Amino acid sequence: MPIDLSLRPFGQTGLTVHPICVGCAALGDMPETFAYSVSNEDAYATVRAAFGSSINFIDTANIYGWGESERRIGVVIRERGGLPPGHILATKADRDKDTNRFDGDQARRSIEESLSRLGLDHLQIVYLHDPEYAPWDEIVGRGGALDVLRRYREQGVIGHLGLAGGPIDVMLRYLDLGGFECVISHNRYTLLNREAEPLIAACHARGIPMVNAAPYGSGMLSKGPSVYPRYMYRDAAPDLVRRAFAVEAVCQRRGVPLAAAALQFSLRDRRIASTIVGMTKPERLAQTLALAAQPLPGNIWAELDAAAE
Ligand SMILES: NC(=O)c1ccc[n+]([C@@H]2O[C@H](COP(=O)([O-])OP(=O)(O)OC[C@H]3O[C@@H](n4cnc5c(N)ncnc54)[C@H](OP(=O)(O)O)[C@@H]3O)[C@@H](O)[C@H]2O)c1
Repeated sequence: MPIDLSLRPFGQTGLTVHPICVGCAALGDMPETFAYSVSNEDAYATVRAAFGSSINFIDTANIYGWGESERRIGVVIRERGGLPPGHILATKADRDKDTNRFDGDQARRSIEESLSRLGLDHLQIVYLHDPEYAPWDEIVGRGGALDVLRRYREQGVIGHLGLAGGPIDVMLRYLDLGGFECVISHNRYTLLNREAEPLIAACHARGIPMVNAAPYGSGMLSKGPSVYPRYMYRDAAPDLVRRAFAVEAVCQRRGVPLAAAALQFSLRDRRIASTIVGMTKPERLAQTLALAAQPLPGNIWAELDAAAE
């Protein structure tokens, strides 16, 4: 079955998004995380390409590159005189980068910084980001980060409030609080990792749109394990590299790019509203659309599952 690349409603938000979202973490120049640097010019060119593409969804965070990702996106937004019509930008409210503190004051600081860097007076989607790094009470207690974000939503500064983070048990605990309109999980629903399955099921059952970030595990499943033997921002364990080579061998035997299988693994799952693909070069937009449209043999998935064991 060909992948449906049409825009779709984003849960109950009233927004309409593409099934692919442009991920802008590495655009913030984070060599300690991605093991390579990204210049201003590559970043601007990538954002310009995103704003000129049929992919109308772009994802960043206050903390990416300590603000550099938002700053660079803001340069292109200002250049265009605002977000292109129909384009949806999501950012994330973050803890203090030095202390990990994530109280109400920090949430306020995070939102004000995002507005100023992006040059916007309204943020369409803001996720509570990586709550696993701060104490529960600091975020959830009276006057904490969550209260402040909810107030921004009531005031209309934030359009929609989401939840984004890593460990699935932490994510499920936050999800149970209610009130989140969308959810991001990352690196945990790929050809090599299925840990996010309970979170995806919980979001699906509640009608909350689930956004799957990092379908390439941060690059090993796009560039290949011989070129980029890293997964989730660190060197991959030997067994994971072995499994990646096994998956790549299936793709080679079937004559399909590894990246096409990795991307379509996420896109073909109807429970996933959008898949966030990280990219730092303008040509990635067209490449990603081509990988999504590449016909794959329908019976490849069982073989890939077996190879990934
Ligand atoms: N907690 C959270 O909410 C959270 C966590 C993680 C990620 N995210 C979001 O999800 C996004 C995606 O995650 P990610 O960037 O970490 O990982 P990813 O999407 O799994 O992989 C990105 C890597 O794949 C490469 N790539 C992309 N398209 C390619 C192509 N056509 N050919 C070859 N290589 C290709 C990129 O290379 P180039 O740089 O060379 O283009 C980059 O190295 C992030 O940018 C961020 O927006 C959110």
